[in-house]
Amino acid sequence: MGAWSVTDALSPAARLALDEALERDMARGGFARNGAVAVIGDGALAAAVHGRFAASVRVFDEHTPVHTIAPDGCARHGLDAELVSGVTLVVGELPRTLAGVDEIAGLVARFADPDVLVVLAAREKDLERGMNDQLRDSFAEVSASRGRHKARALIASSPRPAPSPPYPRSELAGGLEFPIAAHGAVFAGTRLDIGTRALLDVLPAQLDAAALAAHPTVVDLGCGTGVLAVWTARHLPGARVIATDRSWSAVSSASRTAQLAGVADRVDTVHADAGEGIPDRSVDVVLLNPPFHDGRAVIDDMAHPLFRAAGRMLRPGGTLLTVYNSHLKHRGALERIVGPTSQVSRTPKFTVTRSIAR
Ligand SMILES: C[S@@+](CC[C@H](N)C(=O)[O-])C[C@H]1O[C@@H](n2cnc3c(N)ncnc32)[C@H](O)[C@@H]1O
Repeated sequence: MGAWSVTDALSPAARLALDEALERDMARGGFARNGAVAVIGDGALAAAVHGRFAASVRVFDEHTPVHTIAPDGCARHGLDAELVSGVTLVVGELPRTLAGVDEIAGLVARFADPDVLVVLAAREKDLERGMNDQLRDSFAEVSASRGRHKARALIASSPRPAPSPPYPRSELAGGLEFPIAAHGAVFAGTRLDIGTRALLDVLPAQLDAAALAAHPTVVDLGCGTGVLAVWTARHLPGARVIATDRSWSAVSSASRTAQLAGVADRVDTVHADAGEGIPDRSVDVVLLNPPFHDGRAVIDDMAHPLFRAAGRMLRPGGTLLTVYNSHLKHRGALERIVGPTSQVSRTPKFTVTRSIAR
């Protein structure tokens, strides 16, 4: 058996991106060696890139907070100008959404070295034809690698002088009184999701019914663009609101949405998995519009870690308001994990429930 190497920890897409980047950089004379390289991916890919290029590595990992320790020779960044300024190579995994690809492409074209080479890969089943077009908006040269282990890389170079406009973008939508700000990879973008709308429709009456103290703590768990958090901060001026999500794009969007609505001083944002770090039994109300699919796969119990998180952080007697697709039948799990659960509203598409924490 051969010795373990850091590349063993990489997904087939990350490994393909790394190999393609090495080969193509070598073909242009090893330009990226000893310079700065931006990595879109996890710590294992960042460490592998550092090992192969001996370059200083800046890494953006959507699901790891920026303050988390990075591998040697690597520094964590948000998806911002500092991540890519002056880099000659961007290597990593493609975001799952077209807008996510658009955001990275525009950022790189705007701030990287004009000779930058971009090598981003994905599983073939996650690739969409439109991703090439998104890259073409910001780069004159775009091509695809050959497939390997069911993964494929998209390669871009020659940034355009007027790339795709910057993110986060913001828009007044869905009859809200404040604009929604959104990075490319965030759920629903600058639109108001119809599930979120279903929860907003019942929220004033439910917050009244919760008979809250003067300064309640409310958590928007899995906050996306922060619509529920910001709406609540405006509706309950005495409340402390926490908007939390495991995605950097979500938390950063929520922070901007709060700023645009003038409530940034009362909406704290926390980048964490399942609200980690929010103390047990410290919260009066949790608002939850949980995920129900991973990429294209619909997974019934995907919301359960968030139900457990809500049950953990709510004080006894605290309220969890959940909206979900009616076919999911989450009520039994909510009863079991959080406490007595009743139906607040139901349409063929969406159900809203109220659970009272034990
Ligand atoms: C259906 S979206 C709802 C977003 C927002 N609350 C709204 O109503 O527009 C679900 C959100 O949960 C987040 N999420 C999924 N799993 C999570 C986890 N384990 N911890 C924190 N957030 C999570 C996703 O990143 C996504 O932003």
